[in-house]
Amino acid sequence: MKGKRVLEIGCGGGQCSIAFAREGADCTGVDLSDEQIAFARALADREGIRAAFHQGDMTRFLEGQPEGVCDIVFSAFAFQYIEDLARVFRGTRRILKPGGLFVFSLDHPLCDVTVWEDGRVVFTDSYFARGRMAWDWDHGPGIEPTPCYSFHRTTADFLNLLVEAGFTVERLIEPEPPTRKDAWVARYPGQEPRYYTVPATIIWKARAR
Ligand SMILES: C[S@@+](CC[C@H](N)C(=O)[O-])C[C@H]1O[C@@H](n2cnc3c(N)ncnc32)[C@H](O)[C@@H]1O
Repeated sequence: MKGKRVLEIGCGGGQCSIAFAREGADCTGVDLSDEQIAFARALADREGIRAAFHQGDMTRFLEGQPEGVCDIVFSAFAFQYIEDLARVFRGTRRILKPGGLFVFSLDHPLCDVTVWEDGRVVFTDSYFARGRMAWDWDHGPGIEPTPCYSFHRTTADFLNLLVEAGFTVERLIEPEPPTRKDAWVARYPGQEPRYYTVPATIIWKARAR
């Protein structure tokens, strides 16, 4: 990270940008939510870390940046909310230096379309049912769920969008749950068997060609 120019898109509360800046990066975070950006700025101040935060849409932000200036573009769990991801990937490729790194995580596409019900994984929709998907963000007992929507794509869709935008995929990670189940039982009561059956997350590492 030292001396690298890093952009985080969909940075939320800025925790990752702040961690990168702490490691020596010149880091900027962008998020659509003004509340998240206010939180990120306050957190950076509290931690004594210099990182820049911008409120705005990542697509427009990318298109407003100069070409070939970033070493790393990073994103965690944000791309499933983007309808025109091809445009975001093209914008990302444009602002990266040749050989620059593009790393991002997502809810795993298989996790998007499954739930745990009656002791087994049940598909709520086809794995191939691309497009807008409505669902409720479950905050746990006693809190009203929040209606949300996101855009479902298959793993092959992500790979092909990256290749078409000018990236080479170097690594794909599907983190496996820990062998010790007790922590997961406490964290995801009633859901833990699901995460031992279907991957929760997928992480992509790609490089600008
Ligand atoms: C699930 S949160 C993840 C936040 C953060 N990366 C984290 O891991 O904690 C998804 C974030 O994407 C942001 N987001 C959604 N659409 C966006 C867009 N078009 N441009 C910028 N940010 C967006 C949301 O405001 C939200 O903060």
